[in-house]
This record gives sequence, structure tokens and C-alpha cells, in this order.
Amino acid sequence: MKKIIIANWKMNPTTPRAALRLMGKVARGLRGIKNVEVILAPPFVFLPILRHTPYAIRHMFKLGAQDVFYEREGAFTGEVAPPQLKASGARMVVIGHSERRAMGETDDAVNKKIKAVLESGMRAVLCVGEKERKASEVFPKVVREELLGGIRKIKKSLLANFIIAYEPVWAISSNARGKADTPKNVYEMAILIRRELYRALGKRAASKIPVLYGGSVDEKNAAEFVAKGAIDGLLVGGASLNAKKFVSLVKAVDKIK
Ligand code: PGA
Repeated sequence: MKKIIIANWKMNPTTPRAALRLMGKVARGLRGIKNVEVILAPPFVFLPILRHTPYAIRHMFKLGAQDVFYEREGAFTGEVAPPQLKASGARMVVIGHSERRAMGETDDAVNKKIKAVLESGMRAVLCVGEKERKASEVFPKVVREELLGGIRKIKKSLLANFIIAYEPVWAISSNARGKADTPKNVYEMAILIRRELYRALGKRAASKIPVLYGGSVDEKNAAEFVAKGAIDGLLVGGASLNAKKFVSLVKAVDKIK
């Protein structure tokens, strides 16, 4: 199976022109990669522009969104619905990112969003992660809660399009002390997350769910995380805004056997 690398551009860049330039540079740098599926998740407003570039049309990249609302249409000022995202070119949605949870997103809202996205035929990426690492907690309680809360009552038949991203909040580069986790710890967490998914969903459904890591991933540590971390890919924030860094990051993962 190809590794998955998602570029979470967050609220960047400022203009459509800059978004096109970034995508173009990344695309030219990544011609010929074989073993990695790259998904770019720009701000909503850039999706319709980026989807009409030759790179998107030739399926070199897929496009994704960083959030969504769970209703299909109606009086929900400021929200964006799954069918609207799909019609704008998104094939994947990141849900429950810690930056959204910090603004008040609950496990219940995350669960509804996951359902809505899967039902509309896009892939849903559920972000889970603890705020602090405590030596006494082998498998942080909050990670279990976010995981089980996110998948509550979701039909197994929809889970073929489901992805988990383990993102310890303390490891995200925009945090004052943000520092990447270690591949060893990511390996252990990926196993614990998979074990929890087996329990909740049964081995058959759970074994197909990719588990990604995110948090200060860059061109220097990406390959090691994938090679030693027992994960299926990466969710990259800061380093995805620098075309040169992002291209070498993806190429490093592409080389892993
Ligand atoms: P980072 O962000 O790579 O800048 O740490 C990851 C994320 O927040 O998804």
C-alpha cells in the first residue's frame, strides 16, 4: 500500500496566487514519485482554484479540507457542507484537529462530521492526541476517548475511507515548545491505537484503517518515522508550506522499501 502524506496548510498562504505557486513548485519537485499518495489540504477558498491546475487534473495530487460541517445544507451561517467540499474538489477532510478542538470542538461534533464526510463518499481523517505526555499513562485516556468518541456508531461499511492521525498536541511545531515525538514512541502509540480499534471494530475492519503521525515532521525525520514508527504516513503542517522542504520530505519517504 502507498504511504499517505497530507499537507495541512492551515490558514496559509494569503493569496490564491501564492497557493498556486506553492502547489506548482511542489508538483514539479515530485514528478515521478511512486510510493506516496500526496494530499494537499489548503484553506477552503483555494480548493476550486487548485483543482483546475494540471497537477490536480492529472491526479498527481488529491485535494482535501481541514474541517467541515455535519449538515448537508441549510441555515448554518459560515459553515461548509460535505457535498460543497466534494463539489469543490476535496476528496478527504481532516476532522478534530487539536487547533479546532482548542476552539471548542467536541467529540460529539467530531463524530457527526466523520459520519457526514464518510456518507458523502470522501475520506475522513480523525486527529487524536494528548496535550501532555505523562510517564504514568502508557495509553493516554484522552486518546482513547477521542478515538472511541470519533468512531461511535459509524457503519463498518463506511470505514474503508477512514484514517487516523496520531498528533500529540505538545509535538505540533506551532506550539511554543513543540518538538517532534520519537519514532519509538510513535511505534508504541500506533500499536496501542490499532489495538483499541481492533477491540472496538473487530480485526477485519480495524486492520484496514491507516494510522498516520503528525507533529513537527520535517525533511530530516520523516523517513525515520515511517520506517521505524509502524505508521502508514504523515500529517505535515509547517514543513508543507516550504516547497523545497516538503519535496525532500516526500522523496525521503518515497525511497523507503
Ligand atoms: P506541524 O503541524 O507539522 O507544523 O507540527 C502538524 C499539524 O498540526 O497537523
